[in-house]
Parts: sequence; C-alpha cells; structure tokens
Amino acid sequence: MNRTKIKQALTQTPVGQDITIGGWVRTVRHSKGGFSFISLNDGSCFAQIQVIADKDLPNYESDIVSLTAGCSVVVTGVLVESQGKGQRVELQAGEVRLLGAADAEKYPMQQKRHTFEYLRTQAHLRPRTNTFGAVARVRNRICSAIHEFFQQRDFLYVHTPIITASDCEGAGEMFNVTTLEAAAPPKTDDGTIDYDQDFFSRQTFLTVSGQLEVEPYCCSLGDVYTFGPTFRAENSNTPRHLAEFWMVEPEMAFCDLQGDADVAEEMLKHIFKTVLSDCDEDMAFFNQRIDKTVIETLQHIVNSDFVRLPYTEAVEILEKAGKQWEYPVGWGTDLQTEHERYLTEEHFKSPVILTDYPASIKPFYMRVNEPDADGRQTVAAMDVLVPKIGEIIGGAQREERLDVLEGRMDECDMNKDDYWWYADLRRYGTIPHAGFGLGLERCVQFCTGMANIRDVIPYPRTPRNADF
Ligand code: 4AD
Ligand code: MG
Repeated sequence: MNRTKIKQALTQTPVGQDITIGGWVRTVRHSKGGFSFISLNDGSCFAQIQVIADKDLPNYESDIVSLTAGCSVVVTGVLVESQGKGQRVELQAGEVRLLGAADAEKYPMQQKRHTFEYLRTQAHLRPRTNTFGAVARVRNRICSAIHEFFQQRDFLYVHTPIITASDCEGAGEMFNVTTLEAAAPPKTDDGTIDYDQDFFSRQTFLTVSGQLEVEPYCCSLGDVYTFGPTFRAENSNTPRHLAEFWMVEPEMAFCDLQGDADVAEEMLKHIFKTVLSDCDEDMAFFNQRIDKTVIETLQHIVNSDFVRLPYTEAVEILEKAGKQWEYPVGWGTDLQTEHERYLTEEHFKSPVILTDYPASIKPFYMRVNEPDADGRQTVAAMDVLVPKIGEIIGGAQREERLDVLEGRMDECDMNKDDYWWYADLRRYGTIPHAGFGLGLERCVQFCTGMANIRDVIPYPRTPRNADF
C-alpha cells in the first residue's frame, strides 16, 4: 500500500493530490446533510486529519455510520483545502475501508479523559491517546538528539553487556541472572549456592550501568558512549525511580571533572533545544495540558549557564535554609530529593552541578581529591540537578592511579580479583578520564513536564509490577 502519513498530508502534500492514509478513528460526527466527518490519527504527528465521507459511498450505511473511536480504516481520496478552523487541508474520501471495528461498549480508550493511573493498566492501548503519542514522539526525538550530539563530536557508540558479573555502583541493587532452579539450587560444602554450576559458572546480574565496561573503550579509542537499558532492584516507589530504565553514558579520554561538566551541560542544552524546535506541536500540548511552565523552563535553561558548586558549599546553604527537612542534612550525608530540589528550584532557580562529594557516599571508581582544609575526604563526583526532578545526571572523573584505586576498593570491601581487568587500565597506559550517566526517563520527564516516570516509558517496571 502506498500510504501517506498524516503528518505529510497535513503539512506537505499539495492540495488536489490523491492519497491513501491509514489510521485509527478518534471521533466521528454525522451531519444532517448526509455526510460524516471522521477524525483520524496515525501517530505520525499530534494532529488528526479530518476525512469527509459522503453518503453516496457504497459502504456508507453498512460501515461508515457505525464507525466509533478506535476503529482502524484505510481511506483513499483527494486532499482539499479545509473549510474548517485550524487546518490547511482535509481529505475528501473516495473510499473508506473499515479494517477493524472496535466495540464501543468495550473499547478501553473512550473519548472521555482517563487518569494516568487507569491508563497504566492499559499500557498496550495508551499509545493511542494524545498524551502517550506525544510522549513517544518526544522520547524518540530525545534519543536521536543524544546520538546526534555525540556523533557530531566523534564519540564512538559502544555496546556494553546487559548481563554482567560486576556491580558498578556497589549499592547491591542488582537482579540475579541465573538458570539454577529457585526451589533447590545446588549447594557447596559450606551450604552456599554453588554458582559454579550456574549457566556462566559464576554469579551474574543485570547491569546497573555500562560504565565499567565502556571505560576500556575510552582508554583505548578515546571519547565513547554507551546507551542502553539498566536495571536496579531498589525498592523505591517514587515518581522518579524505575527498576528498568535507559541510561546514556559518555566517557571522555584525557578529561577532568570540569570537562565532564561542560559536556553534560552542552548535551542537555542540545537535547532541550532540539525538542523545542522539532517537537513544537507535542510541546504545545504538554505546555497547555501537563505543565504550563515547561516550554519557558526549557527556553530559560538553554540560554543560561548552569550553576556549579562544591557539595560542601551546598550543605552550608541547606543548613542555613531554615527549613524543616524530612531527612536531616549535614556534611557527610547523601542529599535527598528535597535538598536537591531546594537548591535548584528555590535557591538558585537554575540547573546546578554539584561537585566533590564525600568519598564515603560515592562508589569506588571516583577520583580521590586532596583532603580539604579540615582533612575531609572528597571525590571528583558531579551530580546535575534540575527543577522538579532533582538529580538528572550522575558522573565523575575516574580514579586513574592504580594504588589509590586499590585502596578505595579495599575501603569499599570489594573483591579486587573480580576487577582485575578494570585495574589493568591503570596498569597499562593509564589516562585521566571522566564520564557521566543521564537517566533517559528523567530527561523525558523534564522535557514534557510529565509528573510520573511510569508515564514516560512504554512499559514501566517497578516493585510489584511487570505487567505487559
Ligand atoms: O547516578 P547513577 O547511579 O550513576 C551511574 O550509574 C554512573 N555509573 C554513571 C556514569 O558515570 N557513567 O545514575 C545515573 C543517572 C541518575 O542521575 C538518574 O538520572 C538515573 O541514572 N537513574 C535512574 N532513573 C530512573 N530510575 C532509577 N532507579 C534510576 N537510578 C538512576
Ligand atoms: Mg547518582
């Protein structure tokens, strides 16, 4: 079938041309004069095309008068200038073929507005709604903007494994991957599970981050990035956590923390600029229906510098804020979302890049700084904080000194033998390098204003929920 997409028909196809379109009925209106207006959507853009079907069509009585929301149709006709408001053109149907009816009594996506909670129970049909269509298109454009950004700068796209034996973040939040029988796994003499008999002859997990495996490519080929699904078995029921999410992780050779922050800021600005310019229809919808400030916020950020400041100074600001924090704050404590949001939303009213966190709350791979004047130990970490979301990016300069790295592994109670290959990078031709991870869903949330992370990924995985 030589199908014209509705986006093309609405914006580019010349008036007078015969075209064929396919789509799903959103609404139908039958006029007294003996014709029907069918509004069709095919996902190619936010807007519907209006189809005019005359009563003289052979299947007018049999099919067209009974069309309802959700029916699939293929329409052939001539594109004519629109008489109505808003649209350039409409389609005068020569043929309307009904492919699939949708029982109006049962179809779960009726015209009335549904709650996002309800739509999560209909994850297979929610892409037919305005909101989820728009989210899918913006998410798609963000991903291509990310690839563009790195490809234009000669970063290599490297595929890191999903099944891994290492715990990058050291938080013990990993899903096991095993073919052993859950009810009766083989045991060793000392009573522990005998992973030697498992599929990989060792214990393996779903990756929490591609960082450890992308670093060797950085330390051989220069600037690289990995972009794929990551998994965390953390029992966090929040609007910002998923058990399965996508992360883009660049890793830059001969780069320090400042350079790392520069790339992060430039990348976010590139993404936001692209979304503003290329997703205007979808963004207008989000701005009107989801968050009235979302476009203004993105525009402001694109045109301003991010604040950069050390963790120690951030803690001082928080201590002096005069707020009743749910989680107490003090040097050495990890910052919670409430603290992060205060800094970016209220105090600075701007994205903030916090750097140089205490070593004790960060993973082993971050570069150890000189102790501060009070002898406190920090690492060259950075978190990028944005309004409403809090942390959108986490990154660091990596520890390139073998002895210091091994010291940190000991402090973190790690088995150094498991990371022999990672340490090799520091044994043979070590270089300063740095990188970060951007949580894709948090970025989509930020761009669209969607309040819950479960609504910016097609099939959310959260504690007690892996439907579809
Ligand atoms: O700060 P994180 O844990 O950093 C890392 O994994 C590093 N290895 C990245 C690197 O340096 N290459 O995670 C990075 C980002 C967070 O800032 C957040 O945006 C997102 O990943 N993230 C999550 N997104 C959704 N659900 C979760 N449970 C997330 N955990 C982290
Ligand atoms: Mg983090």
